Amino acid sequence: MVHSVRVKGGRASYANSYIKTARLQQEKEAQKPMFLKMGDLHGTRGLLLVLLDKAKAVVGSILTGEGTGTANTSLVYHARRLLALHEGDLPYMLRVLCNGVVETVGRLTLKDGNAAYPGPFTAHPKLDPKTGEMFFFGYSFDAKPYFRAGMVAASGEVSRQWVIDVPYPVMAHDCGMTEKYAVLLHLPLCFDPKQLAMGDNLPVVFKPNKRARIGLLCRDMPGCGCDVENPNAKPAPVQWFELPAFFAFHTANAWEDEDGRVHLVLCTYPKFDFDFEKKHKCEVPDDLKPRLVHYVMDPASGTHASHQVSGVHCDFPMVNPAHACYTTRYAWGATWGLSGIAKAAYPLCLLPGAEDDGFLLVYVYDPTLDTSTMNVYDAKTMDPEPLARVRLPRRVPHGFHTLFMTEKQLQAQTPPRLH
Ligand SMILES: [Fe+2]
Repeated sequence: MVHSVRVKGGRASYANSYIKTARLQQEKEAQKPMFLKMGDLHGTRGLLLVLLDKAKAVVGSILTGEGTGTANTSLVYHARRLLALHEGDLPYMLRVLCNGVVETVGRLTLKDGNAAYPGPFTAHPKLDPKTGEMFFFGYSFDAKPYFRAGMVAASGEVSRQWVIDVPYPVMAHDCGMTEKYAVLLHLPLCFDPKQLAMGDNLPVVFKPNKRARIGLLCRDMPGCGCDVENPNAKPAPVQWFELPAFFAFHTANAWEDEDGRVHLVLCTYPKFDFDFEKKHKCEVPDDLKPRLVHYVMDPASGTHASHQVSGVHCDFPMVNPAHACYTTRYAWGATWGLSGIAKAAYPLCLLPGAEDDGFLLVYVYDPTLDTSTMNVYDAKTMDPEPLARVRLPRRVPHGFHTLFMTEKQLQAQTPPRLH
């Protein structure tokens, strides 16, 4: 479900609507859940459900040709299209109507000449505000290539596709982009189906003995076209930096400095366990909580360094989107337990002007009262008293990611066009 607040002429209105994914349509027709959810993938029951899901696809009782994603992770606006994203599928194109209601246009075909990018497509593509390009990647657990990536031009067409050679499949949620490079994260949250058979575990497991790998791919590297599906396609050259194991869901930003070094700020988990609370029945210890870490990689020497930006436990970081892919000094993130917002400053000599001159828009959900508001905070002062508060007529439960669209973007949306 996408929740939208439209602010216009000093008034706010709220709407919500389901994104009409192929999966939802089938489940609505059947009047029952038909597809596996992440939460189902536990233990031997999960293993049986995976096998059953495959069997259902084979006998045609569920149709997977139009994707099985939930389009519920994140939103991006690019090439006059509002897209709802889920890392297991292609984007769904949405359209915000003048009254703020969001309607589903359909599952997007990302055209690459006469062919198309087959998917999947990350929930966190990166937009270059100067060139209008969008970098994306997709990962696969069960077949090579385990990583593929590409660039969507400002026109909305795929301009390059790459096969990325990685040694084993991992879950990869986010990436980065600088003026010159795409930044890939191959972190050791590994797909391990044996976990299902070994007990009540998820089939992804953090492997602390493996290395965390950050890869730099030159953005202007020629692509391999629609050969991206071919397991024997020539992989793109990537310079990998190997570090002690860590996991990260989200990057805040990446950029290059005058000396050609690449900076990457991301929320790092020193160790990671999806099932910790369930297994140990206690509060997650600090070394399993994320902190903002600043990595600096030197492509010329192959060396790297890192330091912790702040001791505050936070995730879901954001920077000012007008400065994304270029030098930033500030990031804002949700503190652990979604209890607040933290603003972090990295020590930089260069101080970009007015980077924090803006507002933070936050859906605040009070689970005790089951009510929600949309609050507006001053991003510069971080005054805890909101500048404005919109009381919403329905609860908006804790979700993942949000997007602010300008009036100009709303007006510029492409008219509905399927495929
Ligand atoms: Fe995310």
